[in-house]
Amino acid sequence: MDHDIDRLPKVELHIHIEGSLEPELMFAMAERNGVALPYASVEDVRRAYEFSDLQSFLDIYYAGARVLLTEQDFYDMTWAYLERCRNDNVRHTEIFFDPQTHTDRGVAFETVIDGISRALSDGERLLGISSRLILCFLRHLSAEAAMATLEQALPFGDRIAAVGLDSSETGHPPAKFRAVFDRARAVGFASVAHAGEEGPPDYIRQALDLLKVRRIDHGVQCVRDPDLVRRLADEQIPLTVCPLSNVKLCVFDRIEDHNLKQLLGAGVCVTVNSDDPAYFGGYIGRNFRATARALDLDRTEIEQLARNAVTASFLDAAGKQRLHAEIDRWRAGPVPEA
Ligand code: HPA
Ligand code: ZN
Repeated sequence: MDHDIDRLPKVELHIHIEGSLEPELMFAMAERNGVALPYASVEDVRRAYEFSDLQSFLDIYYAGARVLLTEQDFYDMTWAYLERCRNDNVRHTEIFFDPQTHTDRGVAFETVIDGISRALSDGERLLGISSRLILCFLRHLSAEAAMATLEQALPFGDRIAAVGLDSSETGHPPAKFRAVFDRARAVGFASVAHAGEEGPPDYIRQALDLLKVRRIDHGVQCVRDPDLVRRLADEQIPLTVCPLSNVKLCVFDRIEDHNLKQLLGAGVCVTVNSDDPAYFGGYIGRNFRATARALDLDRTEIEQLARNAVTASFLDAAGKQRLHAEIDRWRAGPVPEA
């Protein structure tokens, strides 16, 4: 049973825009920008997408991002993602971008954010998809570099809803970025952080207690600490879970082993997301379908996942109400042809 997942109005809360760069577009950009790629063909790229853990993916992901140089490149990448959103009936999306991946190669912060945000405005105007932008700091780099990136972002603050934390988790605890997140909050940004993807439950606690994040990205390792699972449920801290990503990066051996249904049953505000869809074998629709099938989710659980994402979003009350009403109409079934 696929429970009419295609029609389900969706909200995506965990997508790295650089991770939506499909090999075909990567090749086109490499050619037009004169950037050499270590692959002979698109098929060769896809064959390289076999990962053993987070770091083995990140090495390839940062190499792929080297083709992005111009404002138009960032626009084209973001627009291609929004077209996938339209196909999956994504109604609202909150997009991560990694400025340091680009500014460290000499691409201006402004080039990156102008291209992404121009596509997002077109997405709202032409496709009716609303969005927010989340600036992620690369945690394998220093806290000082993150602070400098935050300062660079301030003139563009009206286009950024929140800050986040991504890249290599092990050995880079949230505590390392406490001062950066203090400053981000002081200037008015909300915050989120990747925690408990591969790292221990304590990193989830640090993200909550030290970085004061509004939601946890991934968070699936929380099950190693039952008190923490209870806290996440009691405080309704959203987890942005990415099932196909977790299988590709060997967090779970098989999607049938994923703990999403267990967390949902424990009352945690779990959501379904794609993470890096060009690398992990599917956009949000495919994540929903694969998870529903493997974990035998019923229609009520699918509806709960969709509503959780609305609730966990950075939309205002009116925006959330509008999307809940769309889910009400989905639940009532298709409108019969006149
Ligand atoms: N984890 C951490 N950093 C990332 C990821 C991820 O899944 N994707 C892109 N950057
Ligand atoms: Zn991620």
